[in-house]
Amino acid sequence: MTECCGGSDPLDEIRCRLRVAPVPGLPGLLLYCAHPGSGLGQIAGGGASPYWAYPWAGGLALARYLADHPSAVAGSRVVDLGSGSGLVAIAAAKAGARAVLAADVDRHAVAAIGLNAALNGVAVATCRADLTDGPPPDADIVLAGDVFYAAEVAAKTGAYLAHCAAAGLAVFVGDPGRAYLPIERLSRCAEYDVSDFGDGRSTTRAAVYRLDRLPA
Ligand SMILES: C[S@@+](CC[C@H](N)C(=O)[O-])C[C@H]1O[C@@H](n2cnc3c(N)ncnc32)[C@H](O)[C@@H]1O
Repeated sequence: MTECCGGSDPLDEIRCRLRVAPVPGLPGLLLYCAHPGSGLGQIAGGGASPYWAYPWAGGLALARYLADHPSAVAGSRVVDLGSGSGLVAIAAAKAGARAVLAADVDRHAVAAIGLNAALNGVAVATCRADLTDGPPPDADIVLAGDVFYAAEVAAKTGAYLAHCAAAGLAVFVGDPGRAYLPIERLSRCAEYDVSDFGDGRSTTRAAVYRLDRLPA
C-alpha cells in the first residue's frame, strides 16, 4: 500500500498512488496508471469508479487510429468526451489537432488529464462538465473512447453524439463491443487488438467507428 497519500487533492493522490507507465501499442505515450499497490479504493471522495486510472480498450483503439491516421484530426478543433485519463485527447494533440478539449464529469479525471497532458508535452484544455446536457460543442470533431459501458451513460452519450453528428460534426467512437454500443448507427473504420485496462497482459479486439449522420 502506498503510504504517502494523506491528503485529498486529486493531483497529489494521482502522483502518489499511480505510476507513470508506457501505453501498450502507442510508443512514446505515457500515462499515470494504477498498479496493484495503488489502493484506489481509498481515494478521497470515494463513489466514482477510477476510470481515469487506466487506458480503456475503446480509448486505446481510438488513440491507435489517430496515431495511424493523423489527418483525421490534424488542424481541427477536437472534443474528447468522457476523457478519463486523457488518452484520446493526448493522442489527438499529438496527431496535430489545432485545439483539444477533454471533458469528464469526474474531478479526478480532470486532474489526471492535466497531469498526463503535461507528461506528454501537449496542450489539452480540460472541462469538468456533463456536455451531454447541452448543445453540440463549438468544435469540428468529437471523439469518444469507451463511453458505452453502462446503460444510462450510453443513453446520454449516444443521444449527444447523434446530435453532434446531425449538427455536422465528425464523430469517432472507440469501443470493444460493449453491450450498449449503438452499432446500427456506426460505420467501422478500423480494428485493433488492444490491451484490456492497459496492463499489457491480456488483449481484446476493439474497433473505431464513425457515427453516421441520420437522414433528415
Ligand atoms: C470507461 S471510461 C473511458 C475513458 C477514456 N475515454 C478511455 O477510453 O480510456 C468513461 C469515462 O466517461 C466519463 N463520463 C461518463 N459519463 C460522462 C458524461 N456524461 N460526460 C462526460 N464524461 C462522462 C467517466 O467519468 C469516465 O471517465
